[in-house]
Amino acid sequence: MHNDILKVLVSEEELQNKIKELGNQITEDYKDKNLLLVSVLKGSVVFMADLMRAINLKCRIDFMSVSSYGSGTKTSGTVKIIKDLDIDIRGYDLLIVEDILDSGMTLSYIKKILMDREPKSIKICTLLDKPERRQVEDIKADYKGFIIPDEFVVGYGLDYDEMYRNVSYIGALKPEVYNK
Ligand code: IMP
Ligand code: MG
Repeated sequence: MHNDILKVLVSEEELQNKIKELGNQITEDYKDKNLLLVSVLKGSVVFMADLMRAINLKCRIDFMSVSSYGSGTKTSGTVKIIKDLDIDIRGYDLLIVEDILDSGMTLSYIKKILMDREPKSIKICTLLDKPERRQVEDIKADYKGFIIPDEFVVGYGLDYDEMYRNVSYIGALKPEVYNK
């Protein structure tokens, strides 16, 4: 598995340090709020698992799953709800936890449908941000881990064709892996 990785972009240690920072900031910002962490499956599960334990507050978690990509590395332009939230979000301060903000289409869509359900507030926390790839201009992350260049990355929850999610750092794949 590690043989398919060309280079490490964000190491395990850098990830853990950044998550501590984000957790402290969120703990401070949400101390008088009714926090509900919403993880967007599957890419954000690893980030979610670490981030929620870095937040020192009573809070709730929920999951939703949408699909915007097939097995390739480019957006298909359509977003579909595969699994909706279990919790009625009215009155909650939502923090959407995402793996990566790329074109922005997924988050823009999720934010819009969740807004219609009248939560008290919605903010976005993304581990990675690829600003060069943005197509939806009005979507911004309130909390972000790392800004990365326009390169397809895997690991720490992120996949290529559903693989490499269990790699514990963020890395770029060797080109020959895509061309197999
Ligand atoms: P967006 O709708 O283009 O912003 O895409 C967001 C989703 O695309 C993320 O939640 C990821 O699942 C996927 N994605 C975008 N860039 C990458 C990448 O570099 N590696 C793996 N998945 C990616
Ligand atoms: Mg994905």
